[in-house]
Amino acid sequence: MSGGLEIRGLRVVFDGFTAVDGVDLDVRPGDLRFLIGPNGAGKTTLVDAVTGLVRAEGSVRFGGEELLGRSVHRIARSGIGRTFQTATVFEELTVLQNLDIAAGAGRSMWTMLRRRRDVPVPVARALETIGLTDVADSPAGTLAHGQKQWLEIGMLLVQDVRLLLLDEPVAGMSHDERQATGELLERISEERTVVVIEHDMDFLRSFARSVSVLHAGRVLSEGTVTEVQADPRVQEVYLGHAPEVPSRGADDGPDDGDGGAAVGAGAASAGDTAADAAVQEA
Ligand SMILES: Nc1ncnc2c1ncn2[C@@H]1O[C@H](COP(=O)(O)OP(=O)(O)O)[C@@H](O)[C@H]1O
Ligand SMILES: [Mg+2]
Repeated sequence: MSGGLEIRGLRVVFDGFTAVDGVDLDVRPGDLRFLIGPNGAGKTTLVDAVTGLVRAEGSVRFGGEELLGRSVHRIARSGIGRTFQTATVFEELTVLQNLDIAAGAGRSMWTMLRRRRDVPVPVARALETIGLTDVADSPAGTLAHGQKQWLEIGMLLVQDVRLLLLDEPVAGMSHDERQATGELLERISEERTVVVIEHDMDFLRSFARSVSVLHAGRVLSEGTVTEVQADPRVQEVYLGHAPEVPSRGADDGPDDGDGGAAVGAGAASAGDTAADAAVQEA
């Protein structure tokens, strides 16, 4: 099993605006971690920092190795791969050629573009895993939206990426495509560590093993789907108001009273953070 991801005190500042504000995050090997949070929470920036696309402070270790300060290229070679919110496949090339190019660092363009009879084992295995064996010889441009995302994931698999960071892979997918993607991620995470940025709550409930909620550059809540959904701070951020407190009467027991107070405090602090972010963004 591959290594785990260990993030400590991660900070990313853009021209005085703090997009990631002291994030600690641990993802165990084989986890299928969902990273959720409203737009602008810093999810993509966090992935950018881990993959070396933006400068960051703090520490990001994968399998014990420090990644911060390394080049994008070296981080990729350490077994870390990501997808972007829009799929980036070569539309004119076939599915197989796309996988071949991803797998083929060091091989000549000619070798890679030649129609091959002998599909290398890792490529054949990736085709199987992403369910595109039947369309291996079709141009990637003819694939359905969901299939293009799977191809991108396949391109990470043939590079033997040990940590996959997927930025909103099911955006724009049909229900069936989402289901297939979730099952694909479950299979992949048996051998690799997977972090998925996602908004869709049904998708999250079906497939997340653990969840981190980001808000205004910080980890607002973390745990199982059930734990995170029950967290009043999360409900506040997503629904824009504190949840209904079932019994708030004056004659409630002390426990209920404490619960109500905790909800209020959580909501207030979440509200303040959102207000801060709005001020900083303006
Ligand atoms: N290159 C950049 N320069 C300045 N601000 C940025 C840049 N990238 C992202 N941001 C800001 O950082 C915040 C977090 O953005 P992002 O990580 O894309 O959020 P998310 O992916 O959670 O929607 C947003 O307020 C965004 O406007
Ligand atoms: Mg984003």
